[in-house]
Amino acid sequence: MSKVTTALLKDKKLKNQKISMLTAYDYSLAGMVDAAGIDMILVGDSLGMVVLGYESTLPVTMEDMIHHTKAVARAAKNSMVVADMPFLSYHVSRKESVRNAGRLIQEGGAHAVKLEGGQERVDTVKAIIDAQIPVVAHIGLTPQSVNQFGGFKVQGKDLETANKLIADAKSLEAAGAFCIVLECVPALLAKRITEEVGVPTIGIGAGQYCDGQVLVINDMLGMFTGHIPKFVKKFADLQPKIIEALTAYKEEVEAGTFPSDEYAFTISDEVLEKLY
Ligand code: KIV
Repeated sequence: MSKVTTALLKDKKLKNQKISMLTAYDYSLAGMVDAAGIDMILVGDSLGMVVLGYESTLPVTMEDMIHHTKAVARAAKNSMVVADMPFLSYHVSRKESVRNAGRLIQEGGAHAVKLEGGQERVDTVKAIIDAQIPVVAHIGLTPQSVNQFGGFKVQGKDLETANKLIADAKSLEAAGAFCIVLECVPALLAKRITEEVGVPTIGIGAGQYCDGQVLVINDMLGMFTGHIPKFVKKFADLQPKIIEALTAYKEEVEAGTFPSDEYAFTISDEVLEKLY
């Protein structure tokens, strides 16, 4: 597999080939995602919930994002690494937004950044792209707006909000975003948006008609103990298996059967005899 680029992703859309994206937050899992040939690795601010144990993505900082992006970037040989811009890192001023996007690239090693919002973010998207940084847009249920939305709810179900999402997607494409994440929108609205824009759409809870799909890795591997949204398919159920392994470890440690000789190092009798 060759390195995934923005041009390759656009080509995939043109050829009707689906794009795969998963989140990852550390070196080990990112290496597996890369080895599986997944096109894009998202260092999502969902790490606030699945790695750091917060109730939302809002407390996640630039330092958190850079720390985890560095680990993921070290593991990614071919997958494109996209780093989320955390809450407040692109809301205060355009200058600060460009600086923060640049830090995710320069210090974190990401290839692109993702930020949430529609037409209100167009100038910010343009400014970041002007600094030669590729941008993934994110519309629909944008978790950083959870307090404004009043919860994690499906977006675009009525005429007004559905039309707004179509207009948002078009504006973000015109601003230069190379990809648009659609989160929690009705499948047929996501289909319409996918047909209306020339850049790939990546769905999460947005049905089968998007150009690609993304899931949070801890959810799809069955490793997260918190709330799992309806749209998540568990491709594995690792939590019971991990707890089983940990329990076996505890029992063997307590019984003194681990570590056996097989897992220990030897020393010669000669040295042993000369010890005090
Ligand atoms: O932070 C994240 O994991 C995301 C995905 C849900 C798209 O933004």
